[in-house]
Order: sequence, then C-alpha cells, then structure tokens
Amino acid sequence: MQLLYSLLLLFPLLAVLGSAVPTRHDYEDDDLDAWLARQTEFAVEGLLANISPEGTMRGVVVAATSRDHPNYWYHWTRDSALVMSVTNGLYVRSSAGTEASQLLQTRMLEFVTLARHLQFPPRNGAEGLGEPKFNVDGTTFTGPWGRPQNDGPALRALTIIQFAEEYLARGGDETLLRELLYPAHARWGIKPDLAFVASPTLGLGLGFDLWEEVKGHFFYTRTVQHAALVAGQRFAATMGDDDSWYWADLERARQHLEAALPNHWSRAHGHIIETLNWAGGVDNKASNLDAATLLAVLHTRRENGLFSPYSPEIQFTFLRLIDAFESLYPINGEKSDPVGDPLAPALGRYAEDVYDGYGKSAGNPWVLLTAAAAEYIYASITQWLKEGEITVAPSSARFINRVTGNHDDAPLCAFTIPQHDPTFRVLVSNATRFADSFLNRVRRHAPPDGRLSEQINRETGFMQGASDLTWSYASIVTANWAREEVKQQQATSSLFRQDNAPDNALPVAVQ
Ligand code: NOJ
Ligand code: NOJ
Repeated sequence: MQLLYSLLLLFPLLAVLGSAVPTRHDYEDDDLDAWLARQTEFAVEGLLANISPEGTMRGVVVAATSRDHPNYWYHWTRDSALVMSVTNGLYVRSSAGTEASQLLQTRMLEFVTLARHLQFPPRNGAEGLGEPKFNVDGTTFTGPWGRPQNDGPALRALTIIQFAEEYLARGGDETLLRELLYPAHARWGIKPDLAFVASPTLGLGLGFDLWEEVKGHFFYTRTVQHAALVAGQRFAATMGDDDSWYWADLERARQHLEAALPNHWSRAHGHIIETLNWAGGVDNKASNLDAATLLAVLHTRRENGLFSPYSPEIQFTFLRLIDAFESLYPINGEKSDPVGDPLAPALGRYAEDVYDGYGKSAGNPWVLLTAAAAEYIYASITQWLKEGEITVAPSSARFINRVTGNHDDAPLCAFTIPQHDPTFRVLVSNATRFADSFLNRVRRHAPPDGRLSEQINRETGFMQGASDLTWSYASIVTANWAREEVKQQQATSSLFRQDNAPDNALPVAVQ
C-alpha cells in the first residue's frame, strides 16, 4: 500500500500550504463523522511525520515541529513512548505482509534500537533512565530540567512489550527480538527499564510529574508503573525468564504500588488527588485535581489496572474535572456549534495551571485532554456493551446520569439495566452523543487544515503553543479508535440496527 509513503512525501507540501494563520473551523457542511475521518487521517500523517524527521537520529520522535517559542524539538521519553504505542496500534491494525505493516514494523524496530542507544552505555548512572528528554542526535540533554521523571521508563517498557507481543504473534524473528529488547545480560531493552521502575530509590522514589513541574509521588506515574510491572511479569513468562531476583523485584514493587495507589483517592476531596508527598517544584495546585487522572486510566486500559476507567473513583474525578473547567475557560460558554451540535467543555491540565504554551500567564485547554474525555466515555460505553448491561450503583449513578443526560436523582440501591431494556439503548445512545460533544469541541477549534497544536486559547479558541504536537495527533487517533469500537459493537448487535434505533431525544427515566 502506497498510502503511507505518499502521505509522508506529501507532508512537507502540506506543512507549507498549512502555514497560514489558523482560524476556527469554517464548518463546511459536513458532520462529525466526516470531519473526524479527515482529521484522523491528517493526525496519522502528522504523527508519522514527527518520527525520525530529517536531521534527527533514526527512531527519534520529536514532541512537536516547533523549534522555538517553544522549543519542543527533542525526544521526550514519555511523549515518544505514547506516540509509539499509537504507531504500534497502527501496526496491529495493518494487514500482515502489506507495505504499510512493513513500514510500521520498521518504525517500531527503529524506536527500540534508539531506546537501546539511550539506555546503554548508561548516560548518568542508573538514574539516567529517568532522564526526561534527549537531543535529537541522541545525546543527553544536560540543561536544567525537572528530573528524574519516573513515568518515562514505565511507558517505554509498556510500548515495547506491546510491540514485542504483536511482533511475535505475527511470527517475527525471536532471535532478533531477544537481542534488541530482551538480551540475557539485560543492559538494554525491557529489563533495565523495569528494574529502574521497581527500584525503591529510583523509579519508586520521588520524581517529577508528567507535566514536569512538581516533585513528589503521582497517581499518573504510579498507575503507569503498575501497569508496566504487570505487563513485564507477563512478558518475562513469555520469554521464559527464570531470573528470580528480577521476578522478586517486580513482584515487590507491584505490591508496593497496589498498597500506595489507593492513597490517591481522597474521600474528603471527592476525587483522585494527583500529588502525594510533595517535595518541591511548583506548588500551585491547591485543588490537587488533575486531568492526568484520565490519562492514567486510558494509558493503562489494556493492562486492567488497579483503577479502571469504570471505577467510581475515576468517574467522580471525571465529573469534577468537567465541572472545574466548564466555568474556567471563556470558550466553554459556547454550548453548541454553528450547526447546532452540542459542545462539551474543553479540558485543561488543572485549574491553577499558568503554562500558556509559551511561558507563564494563564493555562489553557489542551487538545489531547479534551480528546481524552471523549475517549474516556467511549471506553465506558464499550464496557456497558461488553457486559450487556449497565449497573447503576449509588456510587456510579451521578456519572451515569451526567453522561446520559438524565436528570433523575441518584438511586438508593444498585439496579441493573439489561441490554434488552429500551432504556439501555437510550443510555448508550445519549452517552455516545455526550462523548461526541467533546470531539465536537476539538472540531470547533481545529483549523481547517487539520494542524493541531498543544493548546486552545481559553478566550479566542485559536490553537496555541507548540505546533504539530505529536501527542495531540496521537490523542485524535486513539479517541477515534475508541469511537470506532463503540460503533462496531453496535453494528454487530441486533439491538442497535437502524430499524431499532432509539429516539435519543426522549427524556430518560433511569428509575
Ligand atoms: C512549563 C510547563 O508547565 C511544563 O509542562 C513544560 O514541560 C515546561 N514548561 C517546558 O516547556
Ligand atoms: C509539556 C508537557 O507538560 C509534557 O507532558 C510533555 O512531555 C512536554 N510538553 C513535551 O510535549
């Protein structure tokens, strides 16, 4: 398939054409489906273009094309791992033997090869694995920065394990795989990253958060670490690894995290608190309410983490996040777009944020967090459809009522809505509309040429901050996948056939 190649060749041209001042979406007369199809195609293109762009070492993923104001022309361990996990998702979805699947496999192998280069010889002693970012020629970034960042090695291990599993399932070369990412000496590949994660003084110790601002222990970091250890144990078994020290370390760390993570739930706050054991850095997050919570559960969804997206604790946090941002950003005052489609609030990192994408003034909503809200709700709907019922427990009633537009009060006891009950279909359909309204929000502020930056100006709605943020593109692709999954589930269920389609304008009576 020539498509990916031609897209790559086309990209410099598109970049030149697209360099005019972005405006808000003009609304040609298409709908969300049409826009999302176009935007996703562009996002895949933009994402791939930021992998090993000209002048960088093979395997490098630049965080954005922006080289000054702000300079994101670096390989971040976190961003690159998240982006390559999406690249692996494209690989998983590509048919074996096609040119596209070959190209994607090569990209993954180059990423793994770069990881080896960054891991060995060690940059900065064992602590070097917590280095947050590298220069694009593969040398260490030595300027002042919030370091270490202990989510990075966990995310990298998760991505590499996902790739290795797929590569083996496709009959890939096991000898090559072992040499690249599971050598017996364990100087590079998955094991050093997980040994770092499992170390009480390194990965489990204090570090900076994913926003690179606060030093402490974090819900996000701990959640991805936990998932990496679970995946690491599974993969160690696949590799027939009988290194009992390693197994014991992983197990001890996993148990440690399972004991520590519930401490991030605060009944008093009514939401997950992102930071515990604050030990320095920015101290402006009085609320301790952070959209990183959503990313944590989405980035670990495959590993069935301790807190799934469907945990009441996460549902409460989600509701608190939308409430906090709804009134904070002036653009959220617009509740429906020019064609009458509902607009959900755009979400930012946390209410007290002052990073405006260039420097410090007032924080803005972020593309990737608004897309994450959509993905989060699609994930919940997928779960309902999988279970074939919706259980409305006292702890989840507020969430269900909110996302389905139901205004009834919370029930006093749990009850279940089975899928053959017409209410089930109405709830699913309304929740899908609500999830869509977060993508409508992105659509409202995305420029017609599809180029996405990091942020959306809170007052004007224009793109702001690092241009062509690779992670923004990744977030569109994964939100679209989550939406597709919901659609596919509905397509295969007789309950959702056209002639059976529920009237989603009906007021819903949950009780
Ligand atoms: C401050 C921001 O808050 C942080 O997230 C960012 O990584 C650094 N500046 C560097 O751009
Ligand atoms: C700032 C973000 O806060 C951080 O999470 C990210 O790694 C860098 N920008 C690069 O995209």
